Amino acid sequence: MARTLRFDIFRYNPQDAGSVPHMQRFNLDENPNMTLFIALNRLREEQDPGLKFDFCCRAGICGACAIVINGRPGLACQTKTKDLPDDITLMPLPVFKMLGDLTVDTGVWFREMYQKTESWVHTKKVFDPNAEEERMDNAVAEQIYELERCIECGCCVAACGTARLRSDFMGAAALNRIARFVVDPRDQRSDKEYFDVIGNDYGIFGCMGLLACEDVCPKGLPLQNQLGFLRRKMGITALKQIFKRG
Ligand code: SF4
Ligand code: SF4
Ligand code: FES
Repeated sequence: MARTLRFDIFRYNPQDAGSVPHMQRFNLDENPNMTLFIALNRLREEQDPGLKFDFCCRAGICGACAIVINGRPGLACQTKTKDLPDDITLMPLPVFKMLGDLTVDTGVWFREMYQKTESWVHTKKVFDPNAEEERMDNAVAEQIYELERCIECGCCVAACGTARLRSDFMGAAALNRIARFVVDPRDQRSDKEYFDVIGNDYGIFGCMGLLACEDVCPKGLPLQNQLGFLRRKMGITALKQIFKRG
């Protein structure tokens, strides 16, 4: 027999001065193979057209549908209701700017963080459109590709204790992106230049290393390895600078 699911969903409209944050209860009959994305669409179509939540691809690619599901950040389109209990609590991701109900603005946060971490290839080479494409070692290209799989959903940031405490913390996604440039042979930045960007409390040294980020990443990115890699590399760079001064 189909279950009746009980949803408790966060409601708030920051644009409306009279709006008060609260939880609203909805009941919904479960369908076979129902995802939270389908459930939210049915709730909006059948019960409350004003319910706000984001989605785009429905395939775990765009990262737009990330929410907190029974206390754990995850993608609504990749979460089946059959894997959840009868009572389901849905909250917006913390850390990011609240836009309404389950919708937050992850885009501005990621853009600011990528500008801050200068997350683009730094090279003095002048681009020659007629030159033959440079070859890259396959293993290095695959390593970069692995780290480029981030869909910027924000789950790792929402789960991060440091990001919750300090708004200027880069978070695992931005640090992972830095790691991607460190292994890229086209990026000519020195270790010292990377240190100037991430060798501080809002960068790699602010990370507590408890790895909630890796636990919740829906794409299974190897965040633990990258954070460890950067911490070692930046630690060695710091020591080299101390001994150079002394
Ligand atoms: S390991 Fe670091 S980046 Fe990951 S959740 Fe913990 S503090 Fe945040
Ligand atoms: S690292 Fe994983 S959890 Fe973090 S934004 Fe990228 S895909 Fe999402
Ligand atoms: S709708 Fe794109 S990841 Fe869920």
